[in-house]
Amino acid sequence: MANNIPVLTIDGPSGSGKGTIAQLLAKELGWHYLDSGAIYRVLAQAAIKHDVDLADEAKLATMAESLDLVFSLDKNVLKVLLEGSDVSTIIRSETAGNAASKVAALPLVRAALLKRQHDFRQSPGLVTDGRDMGTVVFPDAESKVYLTASAEVRAERRYKQLKEKGIESNLSALIADISERDARDSQREVAPLRPATDALQLDSSALGIEDVYKHVMARFFEADK
Ligand code: C5P
Repeated sequence: MANNIPVLTIDGPSGSGKGTIAQLLAKELGWHYLDSGAIYRVLAQAAIKHDVDLADEAKLATMAESLDLVFSLDKNVLKVLLEGSDVSTIIRSETAGNAASKVAALPLVRAALLKRQHDFRQSPGLVTDGRDMGTVVFPDAESKVYLTASAEVRAERRYKQLKEKGIESNLSALIADISERDARDSQREVAPLRPATDALQLDSSALGIEDVYKHVMARFFEADK
């Protein structure tokens, strides 16, 4: 691992706004961006496509090692290809998120995906978002953020995001899904969702994206200027 390349990790539960802020920071800093959740989402999608049980740890770990996954930026929008097919929209559904959190709870799967995530650490720097970026994948990152928000606020954001993408959903079902996923992500034995001890913790329930951006920049980047 190239440890001298700076990494800014943004962890938190789904709907906390970490993806939006991570992409904005990557753009402003001119750094690379890793959406680690998308990797778990694509793996679950591949399992469904190839009829692999979402609990078959050994098979899923083998699939994870050779997963044919390509990320590219198309007009600032992340495009995700699985075996050459564009899965950018399908992996964002709540069903796909739930399937992702099932495969993500399997230790061999997480181990198999570590190197793939480390490979994103390229010059001049990396902004990465997920659940265990600051705790497990990039514990030596010098800048770590843990972003959260209430389940209700996160469900409302998700509802709007899905609507914008033309995906219909139901708010109370979303709150239930988010709470179920939070519970699975924070109670699992490997790499559970939790703030790194050295992370800047922010609650975005009442903060706009610009406020979160300002807090992060002030804490990690502006002091150097
Ligand atoms: O962040 P996103 O909602 O796309 O993540 C989908 C699922 O992938 C999460 O619910 C979580 O279970 C899993 N995940 C993870 N570790 C990460 C990123 C995502 O376990 N670093």
